[in-house]
Amino acid sequence: MMKQTRVISFYTDKGGTGKTTMNVTLCSYLAYKLGYSTILFDADNPSLHAYELLKRELEAIEKDNELKQMVQQSFSGDIRPYEIFAVRDEFDRVVKTLQTVKNAGNYDFIIIDLPGALNNEFVKKIVPAKVIDSYYLPTTLDKTVMVSNIKLANLLKGYADDVQFVWNNVFHYDKPQMYDAYSRMLTESYGISVLRSRIKNTVYFRREMGSESTFFKSTLCYPEAFINKNRSNISDLFNEIIEIKTNDG
Ligand SMILES: Nc1ncnc2c1ncn2[C@@H]1O[C@H](COP(=O)(O)OP(=O)(O)O)[C@@H](O)[C@H]1O
Ligand SMILES: [Mg+2]
Repeated sequence: MMKQTRVISFYTDKGGTGKTTMNVTLCSYLAYKLGYSTILFDADNPSLHAYELLKRELEAIEKDNELKQMVQQSFSGDIRPYEIFAVRDEFDRVVKTLQTVKNAGNYDFIIIDLPGALNNEFVKKIVPAKVIDSYYLPTTLDKTVMVSNIKLANLLKGYADDVQFVWNNVFHYDKPQMYDAYSRMLTESYGISVLRSRIKNTVYFRREMGSESTFFKSTLCYPEAFINKNRSNISDLFNEIIEIKTNDG
């Protein structure tokens, strides 16, 4: 069946803002919780953080039968692990492939994990190609990050309709009013909208399969009970992103 494929990327031209964590977790949420067909393009070569995470997870479940069963049980029906495509070279061909795959409508969602740089050769090709429909920019109250992301958002708006900030790393002692004020300022002075759900800072974000009894980041499943208990607001954020699709379409 022909699908309308939506291409999403959590992206900033700065490292360590939460791009990969959010791209992977969104892809797992869409695939394993909601049953959408998804594929993830890992273009952060040579680090390939998402691709390497999948490799570590596959090793972890091979070593631990209980873990393996847990992962298998999280697939309902015929859901299989989504593919992670490592973008290493041949950038022109990858961009073409992405366009073809998007137009063919084989997937509901394509998620792209980009490196935290604008001068990267793949970024310089994929952004102007307008393949990506939605850019979400993980942002902290740090002025350096905000200023850099305002510039970036203005640039990306030339290539995509849906470019929004998302507050990440919100600490429990941060005043919500501060975020309200900055969100208003961004919208009123810079024409940048901000997603409502704010992602809390939590050590659990770092945890992956195998190393701890509980984990968050996974390419093989969406550990929903744990994620919700942790109250990071990440599921709310993803639902907000999906709603945007419904409203637009
Ligand atoms: N909300 C958060 N709370 C705590 N740690 C976070 C949060 N978001 C990201 N991190 C951590 O910050 C580090 C960088 O995140 P990552 O997703 O790899 O960023 P990027 O892809 O932008 O470089 C990781 O260790 C990740 O677990
Ligand atoms: Mg990354």
